[in-house]
Amino acid sequence: APSTTSVKLVLLGEAAVGKSSLVLRFVSNDFQENKEPTIGAAFLTQKCTVGDRTIKYEIWDTAGQERFASLAPMYYRNAQAALVVYDITKPASFIKARHWVKELHEQASKDITIALVGNKYDLVADDNDSDDSLRKVSMEEGKALAEEEGLLFFETSAKSSHNVNEVFVAIGSKIPEA
Ligand code: GTP
Ligand code: MG
Repeated sequence: APSTTSVKLVLLGEAAVGKSSLVLRFVSNDFQENKEPTIGAAFLTQKCTVGDRTIKYEIWDTAGQERFASLAPMYYRNAQAALVVYDITKPASFIKARHWVKELHEQASKDITIALVGNKYDLVADDNDSDDSLRKVSMEEGKALAEEEGLLFFETSAKSSHNVNEVFVAIGSKIPEA
């Protein structure tokens, strides 16, 4: 019989990389060009079908602004899954993502499923081969970090919806049945 598994998931990443936009796309299939920064954290839920199972995601969307950094452990402590998000046009956000992965491996649950997510793919989708591409973090760099650290890896666009559902389906398929 089909079963429902609840999964606590946290989003981490530098300010403005698109964490809330990925959640808005996943939960409401919507996008806002001028999304306001998250204050503290936001909580949302969304169900997702993975094979013959229903996964009910309980999502904590954290604030990336530095003044909220001390709150993050409250949200990742009990998480079974995490999205560590960076912006493929912002190298500093990739460095920050490395730090989040390290912190999760040191402080979060040992069996947490982590997906590394390079967002804003729509900004580079048509000019990957041009010298003045907005892309500043290559797909190879992302993949290499993910392989090194045992993470799922996706490049996404909350704007075009590229790979957004795929991230949540891939995480769901890694979660053992309750
Ligand atoms: P904090 O809450 O401050 O940590 O930021 P955040 O990571 O939640 O970022 P947010 O979702 O608020 O997005 C920041 C800005 O980037 C907004 O203006 C979004 O419209 C834009 N944005 C988010 N995702 C994408 C994307 O995939 N492509 C493009 N082009 N813009 C995006
Ligand atoms: Mg936000």
